[in-house]
Amino acid sequence: MIHVKSEREIDLMREPCRIVRDTLAFVGSRIKAGMTTKEVDELVDRYIRSEGAYPSCLGYAGYPASACVSVNEMVVHGIPDDETVLRDGDIVSVDLCAYKNGYHGDGCRTFCIGEVAPEVKQLVKVTEECFFKAIEGLRAGTPLYDIGYRVQSYAESFGYGVIRAYTGHGIGKEMHEDPSVPNFGRPGTGVRLKAGTVLCIEPMIAMGTYRVRLLDDGWGAVTQDGKPAAHYENTLVIREDGVEILTL
Ligand code: MF3
Ligand code: CO
Repeated sequence: MIHVKSEREIDLMREPCRIVRDTLAFVGSRIKAGMTTKEVDELVDRYIRSEGAYPSCLGYAGYPASACVSVNEMVVHGIPDDETVLRDGDIVSVDLCAYKNGYHGDGCRTFCIGEVAPEVKQLVKVTEECFFKAIEGLRAGTPLYDIGYRVQSYAESFGYGVIRAYTGHGIGKEMHEDPSVPNFGRPGTGVRLKAGTVLCIEPMIAMGTYRVRLLDDGWGAVTQDGKPAAHYENTLVIREDGVEILTL
């Protein structure tokens, strides 16, 4: 069941979402070649806690870190460790959640480390653009799967693969609420979204196949062809006349 938020609840969500935004910007200003993914996780953990929030990925379904740090062919849920060192030319998705005021915020950016190959840079750029395509015209009354249709048609026009195994989601008191928000779909189908619905829209786009393989750690998911994937996510509110993005 989709829980539509009151204005009061949306106001309470502003703070965790602002912290997500600021943490992502902070990581973007610090991340560089030579760092381990564990060091990225420490930056995230310290920043979120310094804001009086809790990094709610930590302990979620047993997840062992404060951020998901996914390098190159890792699509999502990369568990930070002290062996994975960021190198010039890598792309790194940093996905994190902050919990404060009784609510979660959730966001992700894919960062380029040093000089990244032009075709990989384009993947990162198009993945971000997929998000903005998805919210074009999005407002109260829009059928849910129009979101995925927009992401998919844009991504596939570049020959990219749209990840099927993971989706966006509702968010609020729980990190994952209804509805599930796929990045693919048929236009004009799905529930008509109501004003006050809070969603995480998160295109996960691969340079090649959309098929993924789960690592033995039970979390990390890599593309089956080993080609890179990018991820971009914001938390937003559906309004009568558009959307209000809480993590930008
Ligand atoms: N931010 C992620 C999402 O969009 C959450 C990762 S799962 C966790 O669903 F276990 F790491 F929290
Ligand atoms: Co999310």
